[in-house]
Amino acid sequence: MNRSAQQKAHVTTRRLLDMKQNGEKIAMLTAYDYTMARILDRAGVDVLLVGDSASNVFAGHSTTLPITIEEMIYHAKAVVRGVHDESGRAMVVIDMPFMSYQLSSEEALRNAGKIMKEHECDAVKLEGGRVIADTVKRITDVGIPVMGHLGLMPQSIYKYGSYRVRAQEEREAEQLLEDAKIIEKAGAFAIVLEKIPSALAVEVTRSLTIPTIGIGAGVACDGQVLVINDILGLNREFHPRFVRQYADLNTVIEHAARQYVEDVHQTNFPSPDESY
Ligand code: KIV
Repeated sequence: MNRSAQQKAHVTTRRLLDMKQNGEKIAMLTAYDYTMARILDRAGVDVLLVGDSASNVFAGHSTTLPITIEEMIYHAKAVVRGVHDESGRAMVVIDMPFMSYQLSSEEALRNAGKIMKEHECDAVKLEGGRVIADTVKRITDVGIPVMGHLGLMPQSIYKYGSYRVRAQEEREAEQLLEDAKIIEKAGAFAIVLEKIPSALAVEVTRSLTIPTIGIGAGVACDGQVLVINDILGLNREFHPRFVRQYADLNTVIEHAARQYVEDVHQTNFPSPDESY
């Protein structure tokens, strides 16, 4: 396939491996709805993650734990439809929500199958290291691609007690590197590294043949992921160091809504041209 055909073709797990080998960086963003998925696919985002961060930014919960598998499937269906109706290029990965894969590898497989069957997404993402290695193997063995997630794992927030940077101490760093190798061996095609020291991300990225996707893990990762609401500046209260805000849509939307309210109150809307 020539370069321009490759740039239009649907992004696959094989393509992500090639990107790592060729030193091409992978751009991943979260998406939760149809309209946004269309825009992000058109913009050339390689991977759309239907993140369980929908629990925070969409539903207003303080953690990712409350979101259900049915709610994830609802968001996933909308995102897949959006990509299909645009260029069809972006890979769509769905987060498996809290307690949909931790009880047993059999239940995890059933739920991963349900997620894959109910819409045509490309892969599922699971948080965890050696503890979920058998589950990752079981799911990948039947042909469902798995993306791993190490470092800060938001589904374990009650265990950590805070969202601080993970693996700063040598022991946790060694464990994380080992976990990354175990998850790769279990069959994962990529691993998200969240909020870990850049030097550790360099080591993990060098040690794996599969791509690493960083969020607060420095520039050496094979790709980067951010939450779409954060880069668009939709949330006024959340400004962590690892987020680069590319727009201030909070202000833009508030301004537009205020103008609309005023126009309605002043009977400036609708005009004769906007009426039948
Ligand atoms: O749910 C999510 O948005 C994520 C990303 C932060 C990687 O898992």
